[in-house]
Amino acid sequence: MNMNTNEHNKKAEQLDVHSTSNDNEKLTTNQGLKINNNQDSLKAGERGPSLLEDFILREKITHFDHERIPERVVHARGSGAHGIFKLTKSLAEYTKAKFLTELGKETPVFVRFSTVAGSKGSTDLARDVRGFAVKFYTEEGNYDLVANNMPVFFIQDAIKFPDLVHAVKPEPDNEIPQAASAHDTFWDFISLMPESMHMIMWLMSDRAIPRSLRMMEGFGVHSFKFINEAGKVHFVKFHFKPRLGVHSVAWSEAQMISGVDSDFHKRDLWEAIENGDYPEWDFGVQLIPEEDEHKFDFDLLDPTKIVPEEEVPVEIVGTLTLNRNPDNFFAETEQIAFHPGHIIPGIDFTNDPLLQGRLFSYTDTQLSRLGSPNFHEIPINRSINTVHNNQRDGHMRQQIVKGKSSYEPNSIGGGCPFQAMMSEGGFTSQQERVSGVKIRERSKSFVDHYSQAKLFYNSQSAPEKTHLQNALIFELSKVTRPEIRERLVGQLAYIDTDLAWKVAEKLGVEVKKLEWPNQSLPADSNII
Ligand code: HEM
Repeated sequence: MNMNTNEHNKKAEQLDVHSTSNDNEKLTTNQGLKINNNQDSLKAGERGPSLLEDFILREKITHFDHERIPERVVHARGSGAHGIFKLTKSLAEYTKAKFLTELGKETPVFVRFSTVAGSKGSTDLARDVRGFAVKFYTEEGNYDLVANNMPVFFIQDAIKFPDLVHAVKPEPDNEIPQAASAHDTFWDFISLMPESMHMIMWLMSDRAIPRSLRMMEGFGVHSFKFINEAGKVHFVKFHFKPRLGVHSVAWSEAQMISGVDSDFHKRDLWEAIENGDYPEWDFGVQLIPEEDEHKFDFDLLDPTKIVPEEEVPVEIVGTLTLNRNPDNFFAETEQIAFHPGHIIPGIDFTNDPLLQGRLFSYTDTQLSRLGSPNFHEIPINRSINTVHNNQRDGHMRQQIVKGKSSYEPNSIGGGCPFQAMMSEGGFTSQQERVSGVKIRERSKSFVDHYSQAKLFYNSQSAPEKTHLQNALIFELSKVTRPEIRERLVGQLAYIDTDLAWKVAEKLGVEVKKLEWPNQSLPADSNII
């Protein structure tokens, strides 16, 4: 096994135990019986019929019949690779997470890149968000940074996620992907969702069609928390910055590439790693002391907002290198199960209502995607430290736990693990004071939907602005209902009137002021 930068990679060693090669081996059944004829089924007479007794035929076909598992409900199309994260600057002042404090420490990782909306067989070059999910196999347990290549998200509250995904996925009656047909449902939803406008600016920009997976950024999106040994808290935003720089293709190129090679990104990543041209990212953090939580003109808990780098610079603290392709796509890239709730001491969640909903969603979906509560035992999902608890049984249980008892408290002993103190690495949630009335309402601090959309649009160069305008014109020209186009143009007017007029003119609609019964509009909302 060659992990190149790391001689003693504990994850690679662990996977090795579960790996096998069929080179120079004889064909066997799943029971280890050598097979003498793999060309013909067992028949009564030369011309049949086939016999039910033929366990070799039955086993082969039965296994084949069950080869497929459900694709991910989102992020179905993915490419993965193994690698190493190396810490180049200690964050001990901010977090007690060991892989971020011990200078020079190397932590094995598996990264899965994905598109969000398309099915498993869709094109790599879709105009879409890209997933950038990183599993750090740390000595304190798995830490997953389930990131995207855009720093903000469409919605502020997890309760809207199924609606967003239903709007972007193929329409329920004909199952035709929206890229190939009408775009009505997606743009209908978006035009009614002012909070999505910042993300829409990113999505319509060149960022949405990367040149290569090796040339895109990664963002944790939510604010998370760092907690140091003394219990001091900082908010943190995570960033990956590609050493090759950020590069995209133009829409016309994307369409051409999709026609010729819809696996363009997958192939590019695979070949680069095979050729020893290992992709690398600088890993950086934006750190905000807990006491500065309210010093911004947006809410740090709002996932539709960035923390501008001019206000809080990104500090580079490590390097992520991908240096080995998977041995088996299904066993590794498909079966890996990321979860933003996989954290370790020194890292904690914030009350971002999108993040809070994600914390429920991932294990829940993986139970149906991977089919058993024991999916943490699949080799790619195992932590490099050993797992000890009183969970038992369930479909496909692999671990053979010895001993008589599996409960706690326990005076009998005989196999029962006991909880760890903090000094022994036991995880404790940050003690945070919370108070308030139970309420189903959006915080007023989440209400400004346009300032950062404007900021992003204004940060674009002239050619980038033209691309963004053309993307909106192209996408909205596929919307069949004029009222949806008009409503979206109305949204654009709050970002940039020139942009709204240009798009409206090409679409043949008017720029009209929107009325939002339940939304407060920004101070400059009378711009039309
Ligand atoms: C995958 C739910 C928001 C990044 C998934 C999956 C679900 C899901 C169900 C499929 C997981 C699997 O089958 O293993 C949600 C919900 C969200 C949300 C409910 C909001 C409430 C986000 C955000 C990000 C993100 C904000 C980025 C920061 C990803 C990535 C994957 C993924 C990268 C693919 C992981 C992989 O490669 O296996 N999400 N998601 N999601 N999500 Fe989310």
